[in-house]
Amino acid sequence: MAKFTHKTIEKNSILLLVLTLVVVSIGGLVEIVPLFWIKSTIEKVEGIRPYTPLELAGRNIYIREGCYNCHSQMIRSLRSEVDRYGHYSLAAESMYDHPFQWGSKRTGPDLARLGNKYSDEWHQLHMADPRSVVPESVMPGYPFLARTPLDVEIIEAVLETHALVGVPYDAQMIAHAKADLVAQLQPFGDLDGLYERYGEGIAVRDFDGNPRLISELDALIAYMQMLGTLVDFNVYKAQEADNER
Ligand code: HEC
Repeated sequence: MAKFTHKTIEKNSILLLVLTLVVVSIGGLVEIVPLFWIKSTIEKVEGIRPYTPLELAGRNIYIREGCYNCHSQMIRSLRSEVDRYGHYSLAAESMYDHPFQWGSKRTGPDLARLGNKYSDEWHQLHMADPRSVVPESVMPGYPFLARTPLDVEIIEAVLETHALVGVPYDAQMIAHAKADLVAQLQPFGDLDGLYERYGEGIAVRDFDGNPRLISELDALIAYMQMLGTLVDFNVYKAQEADNER
């Protein structure tokens, strides 16, 4: 029998095909398999926590209304983006996002660092009628959000679903979901419980106190006001500088 050399492979197209597939799959596996242990792939960053129930409810309104059709939530590491929007987005900042809102369409500006840029009152006006605060705006108004009561009853199930896909909501958080949602809108509810479960840094929203239902807009504003605020980039930059030394 002739010696098995590279020539044998080159002359036998089926064998060449099979061996090519084997080699390509090894390359593919080396790239894909580490991602199965995604937890160790994403660098841990201090400050990142799961969304509070109120923020998560607001996030669902954001998705339902298709805000991602005009707004991205990912700042690329390009000079022009960092100058305009702030520190580029970190992978950890969207580690609890299901689904991601990175997006690629920017009819409006990127919203990844929107939190604390405007007051709650500004958002109320802007969402009801964008042209009342930005005359040249082409964004549609969403005046019905302020009139529509938030469906608070489903929040436990929403947290459970996120726990199912890996967000670390524990039994306590799920059991207190409704209470925590209300507590973030002061002056109602038990703030200590909310702080204990989600951390001291939770920004509570002033609720005007008049007897009215919690609206979808209340939740959406809580969500918008925390976007991009979890990581203290002053600390982060100092660490980066230390590492370079
Ligand atoms: C048809 C495209 C479009 C859609 C849909 C849209 N926006 Fe906008 N958005 C814009 C444009 C354009 C601007 C810039 C002008 C302005 O501030 O109104 C903007 C601005 C904003 C701003 C101010 C951002 C900043 O940094 O100044 C916020 C907040 C915002 N949009 C939230 C939302 C939310 C929440 C939704 C979904 C409920 C939404 N947008 C849906 C086009 C859109």
